[in-house]
Amino acid sequence: MSDKPRIFLTRELPPKTMELLQDQSVLTMNHEDRYLTKQEIMNGIQGVDGLLCLLTDVIDDEILAANPALKVVANFAVGFNNVDVDAATARKIPVTNTPGVLTETTADMAFALLLDVARRVSEGDRFVRAKAWHGWGPLQFLGADVSHSTLGLIGLGRIGMSMVPRARGFSMNVLYWNRTRLAPSEEASLQVTYCELDELLQQSDFVSLHVAQNDETRYLLGKREFSLMKPEALLVNTARGPIVDEKALVSALQSGQIAGAGLDVYEREPLLESELYEMDNVVVAPHLGSGTIGTRTKMGNMAAENCLAACRGQLPPNLVNPQIYD
Ligand code: DGY
Repeated sequence: MSDKPRIFLTRELPPKTMELLQDQSVLTMNHEDRYLTKQEIMNGIQGVDGLLCLLTDVIDDEILAANPALKVVANFAVGFNNVDVDAATARKIPVTNTPGVLTETTADMAFALLLDVARRVSEGDRFVRAKAWHGWGPLQFLGADVSHSTLGLIGLGRIGMSMVPRARGFSMNVLYWNRTRLAPSEEASLQVTYCELDELLQQSDFVSLHVAQNDETRYLLGKREFSLMKPEALLVNTARGPIVDEKALVSALQSGQIAGAGLDVYEREPLLESELYEMDNVVVAPHLGSGTIGTRTKMGNMAAENCLAACRGQLPPNLVNPQIYD
């Protein structure tokens, strides 16, 4: 019998990661291009050392209980809101994520959505493809200026921070709100201004979300917060859907409380509030934040290395619950 770790993978990952896993482990996996059910995950982890899963797999205590010998839950994502970390911690199971490698790629996506919704690129694309365009016009598809506008960053972690040089490239004025305020010298060198959340919402032309999803950030933006925003403001969300009350967002868009939104994430993925499918002032992407070949390969290799390390009894490099070793 092989002494390689036995790993269960819930969906195919990029080719280089597959090579790594096939070389270093005894791999069993879902070969279909679809989510697994809870029961299928519970069946899949029978007799394995490690579970390599995705942000779409809800890993709760019932799943963890299905294999008391499980040595790791390695998530292929920086966000780990899909894993019941408290339950894993109680069972002394390490949970890992993939921080750092997707930072720039996700910031690029946030900026792509910001530019798209501001300059109505997707809307114009639909118009042209519908053969509705009969020539240039001075009043067609007028958008919002990005240069010299004010960007409000909600969250200034790795991805939020990566928005700053991008914003500077467009001569934007950058406000931020974060759990921890930067030192004055850091604010000065980054040229960012700290604001309370309400003030940031009131002053920003673009509001971009960069906080993790947890109990404190669920519905961080709802009816009251949208009522504070400028009517010409545009919202960008590449973080997690439940940070925004999606019904309240639809109402704010319908009533003109805000002008538009660029969304990559949704409250109940893959479903959207039905009105969002029809709104021309909303750009909707299918959770593509980290979606480049290079970044998904780095995430895959990182998740695989985390999984392999924990299966071998080593400290996995990207552990989110270090308290299991206390
Ligand atoms: C993550 O890693 O949390 C991203 O949402 C994946 O795109």
